[in-house]
Amino acid sequence: MVHADASKYQFSTKADVIICEMLDTALIDEEQIPVLNSTLKYLKEDGIIIPCGIINCIEPVESSCEHISYEEDGFPKNFVLGEPIFYSKLMFGKHVEPKFNQMFMIKINKKGIVNGLKLTTFTLITEKIICGPTPMLNPPLIIPLEKLNVVENDLLEVNLSYEMGGGLESVRARAEKIHPKP
Ligand SMILES: C[S@@+](CC[C@H](N)C(=O)[O-])C[C@H]1O[C@@H](n2cnc3c(N)ncnc32)[C@H](O)[C@@H]1O
Repeated sequence: MVHADASKYQFSTKADVIICEMLDTALIDEEQIPVLNSTLKYLKEDGIIIPCGIINCIEPVESSCEHISYEEDGFPKNFVLGEPIFYSKLMFGKHVEPKFNQMFMIKINKKGIVNGLKLTTFTLITEKIICGPTPMLNPPLIIPLEKLNVVENDLLEVNLSYEMGGGLESVRARAEKIHPKP
C-alpha cells in the first residue's frame, strides 16, 4: 500500500486498469482530472479506466439557495425554468484541460425568476453503464446567479467557468437575458 499524492506519484510499472473514483459534480471539487492527467502515462496501450468518463448538463433554476450548494434530499428546493443543455462529455482516456470556460444560450420554457444554474453529472462507469446522480455520487450542484425575471421563450446568455480540481471557489457564473426577436 502506498500513501501519496496520486497526481505526483511515480509508478514503477504500467497498469492494465486504473480505478480512480475522485468524482465530484462536474469534477470541480475533487482531483480526478489532475490525478488522471498525471497517471495516464502509466496505463498500458490497451488498458482501461474505471469509471471511464462523465457527461455534464446545465439548467437554469429558481432556487431557494443563496450560496453554492449541492442538492440533497430535494434541498435546496429548485425549479427548472429552461431547457437542459448537455454541454460536455469527458472521456478519461485522454488528457483533459482542467480549466473550463464556456458561453451558453439557454432557452427559457417557464415564467419565473432565474437565480441559479443547476449542474448535473452522469457518470460513465463503463462506456455502456451510466449512473445518474445519487446522494453519494455527484449530487446536482446549484450555483447562484443575480436574479432575472424570465418568461417563456426568453433566451439567457450564460457564462460559466471553473477549474476541475480547483474547488468550488473556482466557480464563476453570470447570465443576462436576451429577448428573442419578434
Ligand atoms: C470521492 S472520494 C472516493 C472514495 C472511494 N471511492 C472510497 O469508496 O473510499 C475521493 C478520495 O480520493 C482521495 N484523494 C483526493 N485527492 C487525492 C490525491 N491527489 N491523491 C490521492 N488520493 C486523493 C480522497 O482522500 C478521498 O478519499
